[in-house]
Amino acid sequence: MFSKIIATGSYLPENIVTNRDLEQQIDTTDEWIRSRTGIEQRRIASIDQNTSDLAYEAANRAIDKAEIAAESIDLIIVGTCTPDVVTPNVGTIIQERLGIKNSAAFSVEAACSGFIYAMNIADKFIRSRDASCALVVGADTLSRITDWTDRNTCVLFADGAGAAILQPSDTPGILSSELGADGAYGDLLYVPYGTSRKPEQPKPDDYCLHMKGNEVFKVAVKTLESITLEALAKQNMNINDIDWLIPHQANTRIIHSVAKRLGIPIEKVIITLSHHGNTSAASIPLALDEGIDSGKIESGDTILMLGFGAGFTWGTMIIKL
Ligand code: COA
Repeated sequence: MFSKIIATGSYLPENIVTNRDLEQQIDTTDEWIRSRTGIEQRRIASIDQNTSDLAYEAANRAIDKAEIAAESIDLIIVGTCTPDVVTPNVGTIIQERLGIKNSAAFSVEAACSGFIYAMNIADKFIRSRDASCALVVGADTLSRITDWTDRNTCVLFADGAGAAILQPSDTPGILSSELGADGAYGDLLYVPYGTSRKPEQPKPDDYCLHMKGNEVFKVAVKTLESITLEALAKQNMNINDIDWLIPHQANTRIIHSVAKRLGIPIEKVIITLSHHGNTSAASIPLALDEGIDSGKIESGDTILMLGFGAGFTWGTMIIKL
């Protein structure tokens, strides 16, 4: 038995911040941001929108497309590193808003790999018959942990949500999924303080993302290449068996380098970050949903999704849609 994605949904906040807008706030240029990152604009949640609001919208859209009753969902997992509050978790907040009563609901914290981690767990619940209909969401409001005076990071990060509904199926399905992590890279992309660790002498950027961009770039490219080759080898597949590659949407230069190393034509890679920036756990489901809605990705296609994020954490998932 397989788990199969029966529908996807996504949501981006209305507020658009262009590179030109950022030129007014920090020492940068539209040309620099476009050429170094591929990002042209990003979406930023309004002050009254929390991560759960974005997650709820994406989940609702997926439920509508799946044409299922929300009550049939018996598992909710949200990948996020920017929950509204410590508790209740984002899963239970959207559970209540969706009117779902009989489900487990929790969130998974694996930064930009959060969606792949959440999907991997949901797949295990479905295949062990502990769940019959899972709602998996990747949602983040990175704008809330971004230092808007730091040009090294604020041009990259943004807000959004994407969702998928999984059900059991006799036909494939999720073919494989591998997760990994290496905490030794923790200091390349991190938030210094948080819930239990508090600063002795608080500074304005204590609760914001700090990044050694250059080093993250190099590890990301190497890791994304090696985990792809491992995932394909385990399935006795090669890159030509993949119809669509959906990598985490962090930087088009990372994506192009990985595609080149793997020998996959760039036309077979879904790239959406130009209009929404790095939305962390939302980036892969946003790209998947957009790929399907645009008609590029079709039923029966084989897709390889690649997550990579702070921690570092990473994950692969090969699916037949
Ligand atoms: N506008 C203009 N100049 C900028 C800038 C900005 N927004 N941000 C940095 N610069 C400057 C730097 O200060 C540096 O100037 P210097 O040479 O005078 O010191 C110069 O540009 C080059 O900086 P560098 O960090 O080497 O640039 P880069 O080519 O590595 O690009 C990133 C920077 C952040 C775009 C790139 O490293 C990256 O995308 N890294 C991965 C980030 C990522 O994916 N994070 C999430 C992982 S989930």
